Amino acid sequence: MALGFRRQARWAFSPGVGEDEHLGQTFRILRNKWGEVPGGEQTRVRSEDWLKLSDQELLRRWSEALADSSTGPSYSVRGWYHTLYSDVFRGKKVLEVGSGLGFDGITFAASGAEWTFVDVVETNLEIVKRLCQLKGLTNVRFCYMEDVRALATLPKDYAAIYGQGSLINLPLEATRVEAQALLKHLPVGGRWIELAYPKRRWIHDGRMPADKWGKKTDGGAPWVEWHDLKKIREFLAPAQFDVVFTLDFHKYDFNWFDLIRRS
Ligand SMILES: C[S@@+](CC[C@H](N)C(=O)[O-])C[C@H]1O[C@@H](n2cnc3c(N)ncnc32)[C@H](O)[C@@H]1O
Repeated sequence: MALGFRRQARWAFSPGVGEDEHLGQTFRILRNKWGEVPGGEQTRVRSEDWLKLSDQELLRRWSEALADSSTGPSYSVRGWYHTLYSDVFRGKKVLEVGSGLGFDGITFAASGAEWTFVDVVETNLEIVKRLCQLKGLTNVRFCYMEDVRALATLPKDYAAIYGQGSLINLPLEATRVEAQALLKHLPVGGRWIELAYPKRRWIHDGRMPADKWGKKTDGGAPWVEWHDLKKIREFLAPAQFDVVFTLDFHKYDFNWFDLIRRS
């Protein structure tokens, strides 16, 4: 108990109350780091740097990075779920929270999904917007989330809310505030699909406090929290979800949650 308490990292203020009622402060902290996002399987890219590239070079680097994280030996990282969900999402309206450089969203939009890219970093979205234009994708929209109130402009009838490695980047109380704002856009029958990090990875890495673990796993991220079904159900409550499937994958680097809203 005492050990557990010492390991508990602290966020500098309480998310969801007082001045941070809408997560403006929380997102400012995240923004300091997250202009640097995953590129290929093991690489990170500063979106500000990619904004300076010519159209041709941007497309080349992006395509190379996508292939690096989804084909060959990396099929077990992104490739498998691109195959699995292309059909699931075709013709459906999906909100992606934390879209990074758009490796997933652009792939799914190109195979017919109606995709909304949401991110807390504007330059990440600018890259994705440019790539969508270059690829002639028109079934897309973009939402820069200065705080959670920005979500209010989006439709209320998404078929899925999809977050890959984004909702683990903040303390659970903050994730709960963000999830509750997102849920206003997901009717009963909609899917909640999340890629997170499992507890087993955290244990393997030495049970660090979330702030230290973020530095290790994600190149200086201010916070990384492991998720399991129990934690996810807690921050989604009172909305109730049934499980479509959950999976630990890529050894136990990642876990996947595909849930369907019951109430
Ligand atoms: C680890 S990167 C993952 C990017 C992308 N989903 C991918 O699979 O490559 C995290 C992304 O989520 C964004 N992000 C981090 N925390 C977020 C939050 N609480 N809400 C929305 N976006 C967030 C970051 O700006 C970044 O683009």
